[in-house]
Amino acid sequence: MNLPNIKEDRKRENKKTEFIYLNEEYDKNAFKGQKYFIRTYGCQMNVHDSEEISAHLENIGFVKTEEMEDADIVILNTCAIRENAHDKLYGFLGRCKHVKTSTNPNLIIAICGCMAQEENVVNTIMEKHPYVDLVFGTHNICDLEKLLINKTDKQNIEVISCEGNVYENVKYKRDSKFKAWVNIQYGCDKFCTYCIVPYTRGKQRSRKSEDILKEVEELVKDGYLEVTLLGQNVNAYGKDIEGELSFAELLQKVADTGIKRLRFVTSHPWDFTDEMIDVIAKNDNIMNYIHLPLQSGSDRILKLMGRRYTKEEYITLFDKIKNKINNVSITTDIIVGFPNETEEDYNETLDVVNHCEYDSAFTFIYSPREGTPAAKMEDSIKLEEKECRLYKLNELINNYSLKNNKKYVGNTYDVLVEGINDKDSSKVFGYTETMKLVNFVGGEELIGKIVPVKIIDAKSFSLDGEMK
Ligand code: 5AD
Ligand code: SF4
Repeated sequence: MNLPNIKEDRKRENKKTEFIYLNEEYDKNAFKGQKYFIRTYGCQMNVHDSEEISAHLENIGFVKTEEMEDADIVILNTCAIRENAHDKLYGFLGRCKHVKTSTNPNLIIAICGCMAQEENVVNTIMEKHPYVDLVFGTHNICDLEKLLINKTDKQNIEVISCEGNVYENVKYKRDSKFKAWVNIQYGCDKFCTYCIVPYTRGKQRSRKSEDILKEVEELVKDGYLEVTLLGQNVNAYGKDIEGELSFAELLQKVADTGIKRLRFVTSHPWDFTDEMIDVIAKNDNIMNYIHLPLQSGSDRILKLMGRRYTKEEYITLFDKIKNKINNVSITTDIIVGFPNETEEDYNETLDVVNHCEYDSAFTFIYSPREGTPAAKMEDSIKLEEKECRLYKLNELINNYSLKNNKKYVGNTYDVLVEGINDKDSSKVFGYTETMKLVNFVGGEELIGKIVPVKIIDAKSFSLDGEMK
């Protein structure tokens, strides 16, 4: 039993990152014939972690099922970024408990991910959810085989609180045969005052560029068309390893592997260099799409958030990107209702939105996270007021999305087809280089191909097209 500890999670002792090359062998038949169900909440990092978890499970004999009722083990890979992520977990846990008590008493219920790193969550699980069998954290996913093989009837909490290491030789059961996530950097040292990530994910640590390049080269060889480089602070890549490539240099090297489409998330404006912009602008296979979180347009709030840039610096960067990268689309994240955000502060945010005319944005009401500095700030703004601000902001954002999307009508774009449209099975959907969702008439045979599509109609959240 190892319990999470937020004080330990907060520490940054600048210990050297250990690079651990996994090579343990396990009994491939230990759970032969048993089925796993995995439910993933949250960001791309979690989606990719679930691909790793699946590989660990399949390594000891489990096979995947899409039906929770059918499973021998349920894994809930959780997100801690806002309170509603907590609510979702407890909702689903109720369903798992029902299956365990009514039809499958042997069901193993396991919780992992960012919530597993939170002390208050683990205390609640121990007190109120004794039917949960296993909790493991973000730092010990690679121990999953061991934890399951050695499992007893007692609830087991195995959460390591540490700055974090880098594991190599990690196997993934990738969800897609043509689109892959590649971690280049883990954790975060920015400690924005509202954010739980530096606590749940540990210190910023980069993988070695040689290991990243090897992984991408393999993917290209296996026929993958798109790679997205992942990191909580993707463009701070390399800063924690002496003599390592910068993010711009890494981008160039990854582009040189010949991968057809190269993307990366998420960039911090503070680490966005001119060199990066130049590399993106000159390589056709680096997609002209950038997610550039703003969070707030008010200098006062940005300072309280610990974001390290002013409204003016953000706009200067934004304009530079727009001017240098052909037809770039830019999206953002915005938080409204940070403690004591005034009407003037909020209007400053609207001001930036009006300047940037984003292609789209993820918008959130501030959610206090226990253990973060902002959670201790007093807040005089009522929830109704925050909801009203969010609503108005979304309206504005949607207008700009539509305005930007309308510019696509009549032109033809390359679309990487990802699947059949949920609502209309005569159609497929895919994404343009600029990350616009396009629906058009087509069949299964197009999935995993890049095809030219003429855009015939635009909505706020998608485009309609016809194949050329
Ligand atoms: N409350 C609301 N939104 C948050 N985000 C991160 N932490 C919080 C929080 N405590 C948002 C930020 C970030 C995105 C992933 O989630 O906008 O960029
Ligand atoms: Fe959170 Fe800020 Fe780090 Fe992003 S940069 S993960 S918002 S602390």
